[in-house]
Amino acid sequence: MDFQQLIAARRSVRAYRPDPVPDPLLREVLEAARLAPSACNRQPFRVLVIHTKGREADLFRIYPKEWFVQAPLVLAVCAVPTEAWVRSRYDGWSAAETDATIATDQMLLAAADRGLGTCWIAAFDPEAAREVLDLPEDVVPVSFTPLGWPADTPGPKERKPLEDLVHYERWLGPPRT
Ligand SMILES: Cc1cc2nc3c(=O)[nH]c(=O)nc-3n(C[C@H](O)[C@H](O)[C@H](O)COP(=O)(O)O)c2cc1C
Repeated sequence: MDFQQLIAARRSVRAYRPDPVPDPLLREVLEAARLAPSACNRQPFRVLVIHTKGREADLFRIYPKEWFVQAPLVLAVCAVPTEAWVRSRYDGWSAAETDATIATDQMLLAAADRGLGTCWIAAFDPEAAREVLDLPEDVVPVSFTPLGWPADTPGPKERKPLEDLVHYERWLGPPRT
């Protein structure tokens, strides 16, 4: 798919068929995370691949929506701050969650390119995620998504006009003369 078309085609899917995701497709989606840019190329993230079958109750603790467990797979992306680049020269900002976010987005796009559905989930219970996934203390769960075949087609979604999102030269108004 042409890249602009792919960006437009990717949508949040909230209904899935139970059909399996072939391993080669899963691997291609995971590869998209592996190739994501990250600050100083530290790659401070891990992707957990969770098979939903038999783990529904645990997964409901993390995010209690029926469609969350409809797909055969759920992906969890975790940041590993101890591995991340930190802007220590200025303010100590860590790139950990940004890097995990980029990896997530690349997987969402790779999935869409293969006709697979995803939905970025941030409204999960982080404590439940820690318990269910045995996350170490210093690892931060950043995003979850189901990965599977869409069972419906999301309707059109409004976006702000470009003029509301892009400023030229300064935050407000035309350049000073
Ligand atoms: C950071 C982030 C967090 C999100 N969290 C959730 C969530 O917890 N549950 C959910 O159903 N959708 C969630 N979404 C999906 C958004 O609602 C969706 O991306 C947005 O409405 C635009 O629709 P689209 O993805 O179909 O283009 C999240 C998206 C992002 C980027």
